[in-house]
Amino acid sequence: MRELANVNGTICALEDAVIPAEDRGCLFGDGVYEVVRAYQGRLWGLHRHWRRFQRSLREIDLQPSNLEDIRGWIEQTYRASQIPNATVYFHLTRGASPRNHSWSEALEPSFFMSVRPFADRGIVAGIRVQSVPDLRWRRCDIKSLNLLPNVLAKQQARKLGAYEALLVDTQGNVTEGSSSAALAILDRTIVAPPQTAAILPSITREYVEEIALELKLIFQERWLSLAQFRSAGEAFLAGTSDEITGITHVDGQAVGTGEVGPWTREIRKVYRQRIEQGKD
Ligand code: PDD
Repeated sequence: MRELANVNGTICALEDAVIPAEDRGCLFGDGVYEVVRAYQGRLWGLHRHWRRFQRSLREIDLQPSNLEDIRGWIEQTYRASQIPNATVYFHLTRGASPRNHSWSEALEPSFFMSVRPFADRGIVAGIRVQSVPDLRWRRCDIKSLNLLPNVLAKQQARKLGAYEALLVDTQGNVTEGSSSAALAILDRTIVAPPQTAAILPSITREYVEEIALELKLIFQERWLSLAQFRSAGEAFLAGTSDEITGITHVDGQAVGTGEVGPWTREIRKVYRQRIEQGKD
């Protein structure tokens, strides 16, 4: 078991990975990324993450000629790590060149990937979230490396004793978490924000939509104000890292009974079963 990196096709120990200081990812956040989990030696949902990665690349006009090689590197590097339960991160940037906002079409894109053991954050009894203004740009559907508003929001939430930020747009509607999708349950309806450019198309949310069908729950897209979200019977976060995580409190106020709700538990259970069965 070894923490590994891959830089432009070359595998090395993660601590030895080096990328150029003038990489545009570093200077401008000019690139896109994915985070994938591996369970029991298998990359979970890689085909879905790959589809989203390709879409993000298209949307920022970054078209590497070696896309199929990159897919191979991801699988080879993960296998070489022999880490059964891992977090796999990868990104592609527009490449390294002297700092200039515009770029040359001849620039070679730069790939970086890391594989580390998944660090369990030990969430069992649900989490608290803190509402924070959503200060992000108008293309949050692109999984861009520009995460400054996300990291500032998460830190603000942490300072106030919450696990995650709940981002609220200028209309007063809940968009998502800083690194997770945010959903509410009203009666037997899972309510998720409309899949617009205001939010990331979350892979875990996709699974939730499929699980809703299995559980005969309604899955509905509509905006919820912060007050509506807070007064839902149940609420939860969905994301690659924390899977399905019940929200017990919003801004210190209990959601429902103030404990993880029964439907949230059920959705989490079915999601975990799918992982165990490798049904991605
Ligand atoms: N974050 N919304 C945002 C803003 C995210 O950054 C993420 C994922 C999600 C959930 O998407 P998915 O279900 O595809 O993981 C929603 C990753 C894990 C991260 O940045 O670490």
